[in-house]
Amino acid sequence: METNAHFARKDILGLEDLSAEEILTVLDVARSFREVSEREVKKVPTLRGQTVINLFYEPSTRTRTSFELAAKRLSADVVNFTVSESSAVKGETLIDTARNIESMHSDIIVVRHPVSGAPQLLARAVKSSVINAGDGAHEHPSQGLLDLFTIKEHKGKFEGIKVLIVGDISHSRVARSDIYGMTKLGIEVTVCGPPTFIPVEIGKMGVRVTCDFDEALAETDVIMMLRIQKERQHGGLYPSVKEYARFFGLNRDRLSRAKSDVLIMHPGPVNRGVEISPEIADCTQSLILEQVSNGVAVRMALLYLLSRGAYGKAAH
Ligand code: CP
Repeated sequence: METNAHFARKDILGLEDLSAEEILTVLDVARSFREVSEREVKKVPTLRGQTVINLFYEPSTRTRTSFELAAKRLSADVVNFTVSESSAVKGETLIDTARNIESMHSDIIVVRHPVSGAPQLLARAVKSSVINAGDGAHEHPSQGLLDLFTIKEHKGKFEGIKVLIVGDISHSRVARSDIYGMTKLGIEVTVCGPPTFIPVEIGKMGVRVTCDFDEALAETDVIMMLRIQKERQHGGLYPSVKEYARFFGLNRDRLSRAKSDVLIMHPGPVNRGVEISPEIADCTQSLILEQVSNGVAVRMALLYLLSRGAYGKAAH
């Protein structure tokens, strides 16, 4: 597999930092890697001899598993660091933890942390490449990239596509990465939710804002539903789950007001019956599981481009 992709970064910390050209490079490389996961032997030697550390300070199903699978399918050695079983519980800091791990010759550290900015801090402290796998309510760049990849696969383009992001925009790192990536590529983004879930200055990110889900639906090509991020809230932001579901949940009745070919996305985990009804989560227009599949290819691309771009180590 050969690519002319130019990508000279040490770290992937957010889509705010990446140019449209860099984002398109990641998506092109991801497309070339996708077929590896469909082979009988799901492995290429691209990152043989390199070591990837998954350093997750928050729970994860999709992101951690897919970074692990992506690294293994590229033949890298992978270590999953479980915070609850580590010396972090004895008070060791993130930086000390990462420096100690790096002393064992890691090449790429994938980090998820509840504090916004933690991956940026880490990237300055270590020589290894750092990939942000989600920092607080700030960014989740690999999720933003896999969402873009999924949209391109179905719509064939970005320019002029209308995406409606619905839910807890304030506390969502996925929303922030999606907005940075989508607006750079010419997607028209509208965000929708109760006023308490919409950041005051969100308009400066180049998005339209509405609190009327039904009104926004009619023109939409892709609906991105978000979970209420209870772990980042202090309560009192919406009257009740039942009321939230009534005004901001996606169900069959509401979907009937959208275009017949509208696509439904969700980064997961899904709270069925709250932001999306079970029948809509599982319907033929839902791309939720396809997003997860595409996540492996996108993360293979990120690991490959960092190993090649920053250090020129990997022969592809
Ligand atoms: N979308 C996402 O980040 O899911 P996980 O929290 O399971 O990794």
